Amino acid sequence: MWENMEIGLEKAGPAQLKVKPAQESLGFGGHFTDHMFLMKWDRQKGWHDAKVCPYQPFILDPAAMVFHYGQAIFEGLKAYKNTNGQVFLFRPRDNFERMNSSALRMCMPRLPVEKVFKGLKALVYLDRDWIPTVPGATLYIRPTMIAVEPALGVRPAGEYFFFIIMSPVGAYYREGFSPTRIFVTDKYVRAVKGGVGHVKTSGNYAASIMAAEEAHKAGYTQVLWLDACDRKFIEEVGTSNIFFKINDELITPPLGGSILPGITRDSVIQLALKWGVKVAERLITIDEVIAASNDGSLQETFGTGTAAVISPVGEFCYQDQKYLVNNGTTGPLAQRLFDELQAIQNGQQEDPFKWITRVG
Ligand code: COI
Repeated sequence: MWENMEIGLEKAGPAQLKVKPAQESLGFGGHFTDHMFLMKWDRQKGWHDAKVCPYQPFILDPAAMVFHYGQAIFEGLKAYKNTNGQVFLFRPRDNFERMNSSALRMCMPRLPVEKVFKGLKALVYLDRDWIPTVPGATLYIRPTMIAVEPALGVRPAGEYFFFIIMSPVGAYYREGFSPTRIFVTDKYVRAVKGGVGHVKTSGNYAASIMAAEEAHKAGYTQVLWLDACDRKFIEEVGTSNIFFKINDELITPPLGGSILPGITRDSVIQLALKWGVKVAERLITIDEVIAASNDGSLQETFGTGTAAVISPVGEFCYQDQKYLVNNGTTGPLAQRLFDELQAIQNGQQEDPFKWITRVG
């Protein structure tokens, strides 16, 4: 039935069009474009009623299962516009494939990737005037699936909404591309193996908020998560994957089931390998990082993610001790990765990996 799914188009009328915010002071995720994509799923019809329509609220039953048991998954990707007005998406199919892995783990229906991709391209093209053009600003795209069947039994829901909304954004962190300060927590954990840490499901983010709040109160930008069993192996930083450059080797924790398989993480690994940088996906403990900081072999640390792109770490705090990384400044590899990724994403540079898709 997916194959026969047409995508409807309802354009916003003049009275529904919003005033666009100033591009210089966007912040992250506070403004939304004029249109959205929406489609529905139930057991009888599968995916149906796919449409691009004016951005609008939903009316949901208070018993909708997402409110009670949290069957909700999402993705984050971005659209970019170059100086000629051409529009690009970065690795969009990878996001929808990852969403399908999340759907499988959360007992939610599989997305028809090509149809959804067609809907996304129509949406981005329609709202292309919302894509910021000032340096550092982009259009963040949030595909989301939620369980909407009204029922209180704990089981997979029989009805879902899938929607895509879009938000013009500036930098995710207040620091922008400047180095962040990171608090290493051994009090809270993010995920356990066998759980859903590798899944982009909303509950993971809800569960992370308290640790992040405590870190903010102590003056830090984000939390560095350690593994749940030994509380010594490094997992992720905030909502991003993490990399360390030690003795000229780029090290990142392996995807062992508790870490999100980041698309920016994968892009960074591929770029670094292409440049001849030695890369290791291996377990790394906080003690190894501290030892490297103490003996001067820790050259750089940075987070990677769609929202944060590359986010250098200038300092971390573990058990009341503070450690500076690269004297608190952005390292050359983080800078090169940031510049290269941005140039590819903006269509300003050759794209040897075929990562970008032109929309219009
Ligand atoms: C992203 O990097 O796209 C994310 O999903 C992180 C987000 C929670 C802001």
